[in-house]
Amino acid sequence: MVNYAVFWGMIKKVCVIGAGTMGSGIALSAAQAAFEVTLCDINPAVLETAKVGIEKNLVYLLTKEKIDAAQKAAIWQRINFSFAIEDCKADLIIEAIVERLDIKTDLLRQLANINTTETILASNTSSLSINALQENIPLPGRVAGLHFFNPANIMKLVEVVKGTLTDDRTIKALMDFCTQLNKTPVLCKDAPGFIVNRVARHFYLEAMDIVANQQSSVEDVDAAIEAAGFKMGPFKLMDLIGMDVNLAVSTSLYEAFNKVERFKPATLQIEKVAKNELGRKTGKGFYNYNV
Ligand code: NAI
Repeated sequence: MVNYAVFWGMIKKVCVIGAGTMGSGIALSAAQAAFEVTLCDINPAVLETAKVGIEKNLVYLLTKEKIDAAQKAAIWQRINFSFAIEDCKADLIIEAIVERLDIKTDLLRQLANINTTETILASNTSSLSINALQENIPLPGRVAGLHFFNPANIMKLVEVVKGTLTDDRTIKALMDFCTQLNKTPVLCKDAPGFIVNRVARHFYLEAMDIVANQQSSVEDVDAAIEAAGFKMGPFKLMDLIGMDVNLAVSTSLYEAFNKVERFKPATLQIEKVAKNELGRKTGKGFYNYNV
């Protein structure tokens, strides 16, 4: 019987693949919790931005006296940056690459080949089916969803997603791992959008409908929602998430629910993606940013 790198304390080395919006935050979180981390991206420029971002976060934590200088140095030393897949060997691998089933499957297959049979392969996918991901991976019992929220080093929630073939020991190891990260893991079965992305879909779609129908402006919708008690308005949140990622989630839910009207992607988000106005990461989305 395969003994996945499971059970409390057995995960020591973590590899995060994709150093973009999510990957860099996940890597920082894991390093803060004393795990050895390799952060990998095929794009050296993204890796460089991730380095700068992580360093900035550590300086912020130091300034706020959340960590001292020795802790800052230790956290930094625990993160290795790489753009070679050959370096992606760990007890737990978390992929946070582009939201495409074919590309993620291909990556996970490569990772399965270079890692031991005990390595857990987790996906940070927002909306792709974990069951579909498992289909073409050897030993699918070690494949699960580990869905962090943005910004990953700050947000407490992690959805731990169990596919049909996911081994219970994999789930236990991931729940424990999240607890070690000081996160709040919530277990859910594989289903379109899991919990939050399904419920929150209308937060975005209805907001875009209001603006498209000129009932209100981007700024006023955000102001109203924030004054109603939400931490962030839908447009600011979409800019933070990335318009491409948000559109991929909308599309994925729309397809999964047999193109039911209520999950139909908004023209506004399709246009934004076509214009590469992806939000904070490109300097322009619904708002403008300095990059
Ligand atoms: P991103 O576009 O910021 O970063 C993705 C990174 O993956 C890019 O830097 C790209 O160079 C890299 N990459 C692509 N293919 C690769 C490969 N084969 N090997 C190594 N690196 C590769 O994307 P983001 O926003 O970080 O999203 C990543 C994943 O996390 C997606 O599955 C997304 O659905 C999910 N997610 C995103 C959230 C968000 O708010 N942006 C929230 C929760 C989950």
